[in-house]
Amino acid sequence: MDMNLKIHRFVEGKKWVQDYKLTVKTGMTVLEALTEVKEKQDPTLSFTCSCRSSICGACAVRVNGNAELSCEVLVETLMKRYKTDTLVIEPLGNFKVIRDLVVDWDPKYATIKKIKPVIEPKKEFSLETGCKQSPEEFNKFKKYAKCILCGSCVSECNKSALNQEDFLSPFVFVKAERLVADSRNRSPQEQLKAIVEAGLWRCFNCQECTAKCPKGLDPAGAIEKLKESTFAHKLDDNVGARHAKAIYDDISDSGTLDESKLNIKSEGLIMAALRAPMAVRLMRTGKMNPMNGHPVNPEIETIRKIVKNAEAASKEAE
Ligand code: SF4
Ligand code: SF4
Ligand code: FES
Repeated sequence: MDMNLKIHRFVEGKKWVQDYKLTVKTGMTVLEALTEVKEKQDPTLSFTCSCRSSICGACAVRVNGNAELSCEVLVETLMKRYKTDTLVIEPLGNFKVIRDLVVDWDPKYATIKKIKPVIEPKKEFSLETGCKQSPEEFNKFKKYAKCILCGSCVSECNKSALNQEDFLSPFVFVKAERLVADSRNRSPQEQLKAIVEAGLWRCFNCQECTAKCPKGLDPAGAIEKLKESTFAHKLDDNVGARHAKAIYDDISDSGTLDESKLNIKSEGLIMAALRAPMAVRLMRTGKMNPMNGHPVNPEIETIRKIVKNAEAASKEAE
């Protein structure tokens, strides 16, 4: 079976898309296809890889618009998924491109420093006794320690596409949850304070990072866990936390959102007043009517049960 590769090239400021033709071999990965192009057709093509075993994270690229670990994903799988014999290969999104499929990781690594990525052990630990931890305590963060820094989550992050200046990359939140959930950590509030300042509540909750992570680490879930921890550590005096609390209270009390008070509760009177033009638009479209009061959903008891069950399920999963 033949395939077409359309590879986005970028060399010394010049961009173009280059076509290559290949014969697909059984079990051929995208990385093997790229390697065959480089070895047999075009030695000028640049990409990165190392372990070829889904461990090092160096080989992630975008294929037909979605981030993939190129040493793991099979060409045939993608051709079936997209019902095509043409794969378009690009560098990861939301990264600066250095050359062809090679992206610049330095600014991303630098943001990890913002969350103080070290654990100071609790005072009860000592050189003599070590830092003991039960299997249950280890299981709370085990998953998040498996990040291979492949960048797939960043590539498809909608918040990062809009603005990366006021937001950490999804994998940095994964790293933060790995540290915050570690029972040996003397001061998880240090990491929590840092991530609140670095954009925790700015996540769009679009779940793209979770859908694209080749290790199934659920960065969006890590972000939700971190938000919960900010409440537990009383770091909830900010717009995002107040907004979440206001929504929770409205849904628990009445089963409906009180749009006329939501902004006041989240941002305070002065900031809410600045949003008066938006309130007028909501009133015009009928989404908000302060004269009608706050309606109670007739299914409020069912809604309260759903909230309680969700809370119990979330505790069980911890
Ligand atoms: S859920 Fe948040 S972190 Fe994940 S991709 Fe969407 S905006 Fe980015
Ligand atoms: S969280 Fe997943 S997608 Fe993101 S860098 Fe780590 S392994 Fe890759
Ligand atoms: S080459 Fe290491 S993860 Fe793909």
